[in-house]
Amino acid sequence: MPSSKLLILIALNLLSQCFAVPFALNRRTATTLSAAQISSFAPFTQFARAAYCDGFQDWTCGAACDANGDFEVSLAGGDDSDIQNCYFSPSLNSIIVAHEGTDPVQLESDLTDVEVLLGSLDSSLFPGISSSVQVHDGFRDEHAKTATAILAEVKALMTSKNTKNVVAVGHSLGGALAELDSLFLALNLPSGSNVSAMTYGTPRVGNPAFASLIDQHVPGFKHINNEKDLIPIVPGRFLGYAHPAGEIHIVSPGNVVACSGDDDATDSQCTIDTVPNIFDGDILNHLGPYAGTSIGTLAC
Ligand SMILES: *[C@@H]1O[C@H](CO)[C@@H](O)[C@H](O)[C@H]1NC(C)=O
Repeated sequence: MPSSKLLILIALNLLSQCFAVPFALNRRTATTLSAAQISSFAPFTQFARAAYCDGFQDWTCGAACDANGDFEVSLAGGDDSDIQNCYFSPSLNSIIVAHEGTDPVQLESDLTDVEVLLGSLDSSLFPGISSSVQVHDGFRDEHAKTATAILAEVKALMTSKNTKNVVAVGHSLGGALAELDSLFLALNLPSGSNVSAMTYGTPRVGNPAFASLIDQHVPGFKHINNEKDLIPIVPGRFLGYAHPAGEIHIVSPGNVVACSGDDDATDSQCTIDTVPNIFDGDILNHLGPYAGTSIGTLAC
């Protein structure tokens, strides 16, 4: 006997398909990436992967840590659901802020819940942002727990390492937190800072007004989706959510495209058409491989 919540979920998904017309999709182009472009993501993929692994605190986490052997851990800690990591990578001349993700099946069930609530950002963390900019309240509250500590650490590292480059990375829930961190850091670091983000298997985080702010303040934002992963299509657009620009879609191993524009476009190669609803998705694709690297507690 399916629960009432499941029935409501299915009903909403059917409704979302009936309501496809109000969300008219624009045509856009997808550009195939070169092998060199794909391999340039690898260090960030390994940082996102390392955030899941035991031993990241002293960089003894095995293959994920060895892949970025010259890193320096600066801040690492928290409990299992509340971990923030700051690294400095001399070879990338960048500060990396990495967030751990969570169990993907649990995340899917949370984000397909009918009670995925949008709320305004905390104006003390996101100064000057209008209350019409709204994000998933669970992501917002999780991000707020580590925001202040991360900002202080990043500021100190920018001075001690004499760099302006900061990259927020994360997979799954960690990708959502990295997306919030990228805006948070862009708003709070001195002007001239170079904040970007590289996220993997990231759910939608906020409404279209939030997505446009990411486009505006974090022009280097990239979110990488693997094949038929369904986490990137939740929460649904019909619930008021949208991704920012910067989708990279791994169509199949070795065939990777950059998708232009925002989360309102149609093409055969990007996620929005590849996974039109969760029943067409495959949760196993959430773990990767992202150009050869799987991410998750099982991939340490
Ligand atoms: C900004 O940071 C990224 C990531 O480290 C780097 O690839 C890029 O070259 C930087 N841009 C500038 C203008 O320094």
